[in-house]
Amino acid sequence: MGSAAKADLESIETASRDELQALQLKRLKWSLQHVFDHVSHYRKTFEQAGLHPSDLKDLADLARFPFTTKADLRENYPYGMFAVPMRQVVRVHASSGTTGRPTVVGYTRGDIALWAGLMARCLRAAGVGPDDIILNSYGYGLFTGGLGAHYGGEALGATVIPMSGGQTEKQVLLIREFLPTVLLCTPSYSLTIADELARQGVRAGDTKLRVGVFGAEPWTEGMRKEIEARLGIDALDIYGLSEAIGPGVGSECIESKDGSHLWEDHFYPEIIDPDTGAVLPDGAHGELVFTSLTKEAMPIIRYRTRDLTRLLPGSARTMRRMERISGRSDDMLIVRGVNVFPTQIEDILLRNANLCAQYQLQLSCEGHLDRLDVYVEVKPELSGRLSEAERNAIGREVTGHIKSLIGVSAELHVVETERIERTLVGKAKRVIDKRPRQ
Ligand code: DLL
Repeated sequence: MGSAAKADLESIETASRDELQALQLKRLKWSLQHVFDHVSHYRKTFEQAGLHPSDLKDLADLARFPFTTKADLRENYPYGMFAVPMRQVVRVHASSGTTGRPTVVGYTRGDIALWAGLMARCLRAAGVGPDDIILNSYGYGLFTGGLGAHYGGEALGATVIPMSGGQTEKQVLLIREFLPTVLLCTPSYSLTIADELARQGVRAGDTKLRVGVFGAEPWTEGMRKEIEARLGIDALDIYGLSEAIGPGVGSECIESKDGSHLWEDHFYPEIIDPDTGAVLPDGAHGELVFTSLTKEAMPIIRYRTRDLTRLLPGSARTMRRMERISGRSDDMLIVRGVNVFPTQIEDILLRNANLCAQYQLQLSCEGHLDRLDVYVEVKPELSGRLSEAERNAIGREVTGHIKSLIGVSAELHVVETERIERTLVGKAKRVIDKRPRQ
């Protein structure tokens, strides 16, 4: 246990920049050819740009190739971006899209092994090893967090408790009785667990927990300090997104705790100006873009993550780091780790015949967890005509749909006509985010 000795690291983690770049170039050429040969979307967009994979002579040439967006994935829903026949795809996961349609991602057996290896690398960077017992409280299911972390823990040889999210009392019971040393969940949920521990009279230091690897939502240095103090652990950041692979695209090292190292041997990062698309130099703030270098089933070329950050030089590893995500360049919200687009909520609201498209989402904090309140007006012709009982019934039905289709708990407030403020110029203000970290 303790932080990984240098000998435990994969040699590429400490390779020189030259070695790393030579590997990236070789893999990038393979990846471009792979998508060109097997994904009609990429063949078409490359040809429209007058490009062939052989036009890539060095890494900088990648900037000439077109971007890929969530909209492209949606247009090719569900399997159109896969580069291998379905019989080679052993798993799919999905994350929220901008409309009701989720973004589907697929994995070959090789991709699953790669992912497990990368997650194991993240956990090793956090000082986790075969002697550790991991309480995996990331959600299992279509979300990549649970299974991604699970396979990584096993690949490392640690013991994994596949708890998933929720049932906080049970989480605490397991912490007290199964004696995990490592906690994996969203940062906000770690504080809910801390509350329950306190409620049960367990003090920091009374548990065996010593490190937590937290991600899937933005968090701050202040929150790190709070988690560390309340749980008596080291709290590290882990970054990832389904379209790239899931959790494990990058993570922090326990010896430096200075931002996530991006695993550049498998994902080539670029920072672009979100308005012009121009590639920006290291150190400049902009939108993170990834190209997968080794993925087989669903490679991505210049995928626009919409996450805003900047690239920093390597420290504990030679691979570059990224600063904490400062925000997003689109309207995606992350509510208790779940990606939510306002348009998804709108879709659900409008399926109810009593409601109209005047709505607003209000985000706040309840304890340490996000709280989502949805305000929606009744149709003008029904204004003043619905009883409180009828409005409550609508609320129950709609929140049930929101929970089952998007996976978040919301409180619905059905209000009379014109109660929601209108924006007279420009876009409707759909979201009021009162959470302190935003
Ligand atoms: O959230 C994968 C993941 C699971 C990462 C568990 C870490 C731990 P998606 O559901 O596709 O995948 O959401 C990806 O979540 O584009 C970011 O906006 C946000 N995000 C993920 N990790 C972090 C982080 C998973 N450490 C989207 N800090 C990404 C800030 C994060 N934002």
